[in-house]
Amino acid sequence: MLKPNPFSILQAAALLLSIICWSSNVLAHSWLDCANMVGFNCKGFPLGYPSRANPDINTLYTYLIEHRRPTAPVCQPGRQTAFNKSSINAQFPPARVAPGESLHLTWQANGHLNETSPTKVEIHWAGKPGRLLRTRSELGPKTLLATMGFASAKNCDNPAHPNTWCHGQFKIPAGTKAGAFQVIWWWKFDQNPVGEEYSTCFEVIVQNKKTDAKRMVA
Ligand SMILES: *[C@@H]1O[C@H](CO)[C@@H](O)[C@H](O)[C@H]1NC(C)=O
Ligand SMILES: *[C@@H]1O[C@H](CO)[C@@H](O)[C@H](O)[C@H]1NC(C)=O
Repeated sequence: MLKPNPFSILQAAALLLSIICWSSNVLAHSWLDCANMVGFNCKGFPLGYPSRANPDINTLYTYLIEHRRPTAPVCQPGRQTAFNKSSINAQFPPARVAPGESLHLTWQANGHLNETSPTKVEIHWAGKPGRLLRTRSELGPKTLLATMGFASAKNCDNPAHPNTWCHGQFKIPAGTKAGAFQVIWWWKFDQNPVGEEYSTCFEVIVQNKKTDAKRMVA
C-alpha cells in the first residue's frame, strides 16, 4: 500500500500554484515599461507610469482598444496630458534625446512570445512638436515611425520565461525640430480577430545638444 508522501503533496501544491500564476500571467496583457533604456537604467518613462513596484500596474496601466473603433482614444484617457510641464513626474521623467538618436524601448512578453509569427508593434507620432494624435483613426502610414516584432527569441532576453523582457528600437529622424513629441507604442495583438490592440503613450523631448541642453534640463 502506498502512503501519501507529504513531500509529493507539497510539490503537487507548488506545481498547481505555479500553473495558476503562469496562466494569470498569460491572461495579463502588456504595456510599455521604458521608453529609453540606457545601459541598465531606464532614462525615459511613459506618461503616468505607476512602476512595477505597484501591484496594481496591470489593472492601472493596461489600455485596450477593441473592435478597431476609429473614434477610440489612442491613449488611455487621463494619460494624454502631454506637453504640460507641471505634470512631469520627477521620478519617472520623459525621454530626452537629440535628433538622429535612437530610443531603446522595453516591455514584457507576458506569455505572448511567438517564434513563427510574432505579433507587431507600431510606433506612431504626429512628427511635429506639441501635436497630439487623439483617436485611432488618426494612425496611418503618415504617422508610422517604426514597426517591430512584439516577442520572439530575436528581441526577448529569455524566450523560456513567460515574463521575459523584450526590446525594440526606433530613431528620431535627423533634422527633427526641438520640442516635446507624443509617441505611441501600439501593439496589434489581435488575438480576438475583431480587433484587440494595446497602446502606451509617451513623450519624447527632442533637444539639440549644443543649444538646448542647458535651457531644457528641468
Ligand atoms: C498640468 O498638470 C497639472 C498637474 O498634473 C494639473 O494640475 C494641471 O491642471 C495641468 N494643466 C493643463 C493645462 O492640463
Ligand atoms: C503564432 O502565431 C500564429 C499566427 O497567428 C498562430 O497560428 C500560432 O498558433 C502562434 N503560435 C503560438 C505558439 O502561439
